[in-house]
Amino acid sequence: MDRLALLADPAVRSAFSFQIGRAIEYHATLGSTQDRARELARSGLAGATLVVADQQTAGHGRGDKSWLSDPGASLLASWIFRPAPAEPALFALLAGVAVARALRTFGVADLGLKWPNDVWLTGGKVAGCLAHGDGSSCVIGIGVNVSQRELPREIADVATTLARAGHDVDRLALLARITKELDVVADPAARDDALGEWRRRSITLGREVEVTITNTDRIRGTASGLADDGALLVETPYGQQRVIAGEVRVLG
Ligand code: BTN
Repeated sequence: MDRLALLADPAVRSAFSFQIGRAIEYHATLGSTQDRARELARSGLAGATLVVADQQTAGHGRGDKSWLSDPGASLLASWIFRPAPAEPALFALLAGVAVARALRTFGVADLGLKWPNDVWLTGGKVAGCLAHGDGSSCVIGIGVNVSQRELPREIADVATTLARAGHDVDRLALLARITKELDVVADPAARDDALGEWRRRSITLGREVEVTITNTDRIRGTASGLADDGALLVETPYGQQRVIAGEVRVLG
């Protein structure tokens, strides 16, 4: 039985909140945990708060993409970190490492990290991370496809779920584990380790890629490295380019 909805019970929520060291807002249905957490962060009142939803009706992905989910099937959560542990782009990349580490504890192997912050499993995207910062805080949103057997047509070619890969994972336990691993990667002393793990698990480095930076700006080349600030280094016929934000298509 999946236990995430137990968070609707104030007694369970309070015990879980004590366990993970954060206030928790739980919603059966919400537009977007990211929008709600950003609103809380802007109010300046919320310290370490976690917003979690059983279902989102207007989830966002990176850029102008939406994040689709079915009721009860995904882990959908946003954590407020204050002070911000890193620049948003770097923290989102480190969050990908945290998700991979958390999934490993449930026996999920064969995880790959695709720049900038996608978690892949057996050829499909299983989780994505999104970060927003305002200088004093950073809101990190994570979506994990957990128990869907079928995926919407729009994402069926590129996405997968833990269930489709044969893993039965409880969302409440996964939430606890991801929170713990986020706290680890938020510590600057653990940064080098996490970046090293990103490089080892990368399915982008060493590949021929096309990076869409803006609608009119694309580069092609070999993804040759990851800088310590999370930028992707791409060798092109015109020299090495540092890409801070963009979408990568692997060509070969
Ligand atoms: C991406 O890969 O494009 C990032 C996806 C991030 C999705 C999560 S789901 C929880 C949080 N709320 C949102 O609206 N988005 C993030």
